[in-house]
Amino acid sequence: MIPSCLTLQLTPFFPSQLLPVNRLSLLPSSTFPAFAAKSRRLAFAATKAPSISTMAAEQENVGNLKRKLAKLFQLSLDATVPGEPDIEPQVAACTAKFGDYQCNNAMGLWSKIKGRPGIEFRGPPAVGQAIMKNLPQSEMIESCSVAGPGFVNVVLSKNWMAQNIQKMLVDGIETWAPKLSIKRAVVDFSSPNIAKEMHVGHLRSTIIGDTLASMLEFSNVEVLRRNHVGDWGTQFGMLIEFLFEKFPNFEDVNETAIGDLQAFYKESKQRFDVDAEFKDRAQKAVVRLQSGEQMYRKAWAQICEISRREFDQVYQRLGVHLEEKGESFYNPHIPGVIEALTNQGLVEESKGARVIFIEGINIPLIVVKSDGGYNYASTDMTALWYRLNEEKAEWIIYVTDVGQQQHFDMVFKAAKRAGWFPADDRQYPKASHVGFGLVLGEDGKRFRTRSSEVVRLADLLDEAKTRSKAALIERGKAAEWTEEELEQTAEAVGYGAVKYADLKNNRLTNYTFDFDQMLNDKGNTAVYLLYAHARICSIIRKSGKDTEELKKTGKIVLDHADERVLGLHLLQFAEVVEEACSNLLPNVLCEYLYNLSENFTRFYSNCQVVGSAEETSRLLLCEATAVVMRKCFFLLGIKPVYKI
Ligand code: ARG
Repeated sequence: MIPSCLTLQLTPFFPSQLLPVNRLSLLPSSTFPAFAAKSRRLAFAATKAPSISTMAAEQENVGNLKRKLAKLFQLSLDATVPGEPDIEPQVAACTAKFGDYQCNNAMGLWSKIKGRPGIEFRGPPAVGQAIMKNLPQSEMIESCSVAGPGFVNVVLSKNWMAQNIQKMLVDGIETWAPKLSIKRAVVDFSSPNIAKEMHVGHLRSTIIGDTLASMLEFSNVEVLRRNHVGDWGTQFGMLIEFLFEKFPNFEDVNETAIGDLQAFYKESKQRFDVDAEFKDRAQKAVVRLQSGEQMYRKAWAQICEISRREFDQVYQRLGVHLEEKGESFYNPHIPGVIEALTNQGLVEESKGARVIFIEGINIPLIVVKSDGGYNYASTDMTALWYRLNEEKAEWIIYVTDVGQQQHFDMVFKAAKRAGWFPADDRQYPKASHVGFGLVLGEDGKRFRTRSSEVVRLADLLDEAKTRSKAALIERGKAAEWTEEELEQTAEAVGYGAVKYADLKNNRLTNYTFDFDQMLNDKGNTAVYLLYAHARICSIIRKSGKDTEELKKTGKIVLDHADERVLGLHLLQFAEVVEEACSNLLPNVLCEYLYNLSENFTRFYSNCQVVGSAEETSRLLLCEATAVVMRKCFFLLGIKPVYKI
């Protein structure tokens, strides 16, 4: 984005100067230098481009201002340089005081067309002027100006803005949902390993994956929320043998008898490491399990079930919904997939293993180990095949730590070699790896407990809740609220704080887990945001007005500068959520939410709401802010609170 200080030249611009696109051909050729020579192309541009009124009906996402403006600028660009088809309008929101949005095509366009015969522009500012002149008339635009080397600034009409906010209040926030071109996606997230610890890395995957899934669902995509649990592998031989040994009648054993499954895993691993005879039995047990021997399958199923119950408790507390299709699910399909890849000539022998070589990477993807067994990659190739062919997913998204990036890179490239994906990466079906960084402790090292154990998720959530409850009690809420209200708010705030502290960072960076910071009621925290929402609700409650009624009878006006800033920010929800969703970046939505709350605070400190002449309009702005905030909370997996 271009800072406003670069603005050199300002030309006031009025909508009456805008020319409807279907009248462009009446203009003298000097207005559009490139035109005269290519007048046939203009006729095409004018018929190809829909008129503004039909565009409204065809709008993909009625809320997305950036797209709406891009469509207008597309028409203008087609008319400005008819000889240059397919120039994509570069429209961006801007903080410059001269406009709300900016079209940045002039400079790039100039370097493309300068020196060509018939081009009469004298540099980028003139191109900018022409782009501005050719912009079709639209009720959404108040005025335009050209700044610096040809940036076209657009000031939106505040009446149009007010009407659109009101329309959202009446028709619902769903009308601002992004429209994606796909119908079904898989989000593979959380995916802990059976009997091993579900650690903070899995917490990140769970939180980030849930948000991505929710954003896609909001965009009307059917999402298969997949928990790809590690429920297969050599560790099961050891676990099963240990189970048999400790509990001869293992079928009656439940989690209370086994107790902590992680401790059970550790104990059996110790045994495995020191006792050669046990190790031998464990290795044989793997073979017996894989060949489907009933007793072994039963013991395996039981261990999985105990783990599953533990995981489910965490999911329940986090309010996250997932459907388990673990590694074992894909076993029956592996041989067929490997065979098909082999028939395509992709699988080669290397050091006794069967591998797929990938251009640019010096290690191959091993799909069959030298002992003939399958591995993580065999399962992932097969799961990918299944998701594409059986589940017909168009976008397959994997949420794991960045450490697995190379694995997924290889899997996706192998799939591309096999022709499972189109050559153009921008086209669907496609697969994306959503990597994330480490969670660090306050000492800057990997997050561990004092005794350097892996931190248990359940303990973390307990502590977040306990701390937020203590803060509420300190604010005197124990006397004011019922125990149930106190509990529910403590949970919403505590768990919300943990989630938001994770989501607000660019996921690729490491972040420090710090309770004091995340539970602070000032700054960019869930606590601050939840309180801001509760405050808005209380303003509305105290007014004694029914917003349902006001929506229909009242009218929003955005006359005060702070009302306008808030209104514009509200209207930008649609494009922000679309960006967060298509770039798989939850932090973009967090930043939006934080700024919304800041803009609201400024509005509220400078504009009296209750008892003012503008009360109705301002209450509606309060309501619209609360609606958008709640949708953000929902997408981020945070439960809103209404009272504080
Ligand atoms: N279970 C793996 C882990 O804990 C994550 C699985 C991710 N999904 C996948 N399809 N490989 O690291």
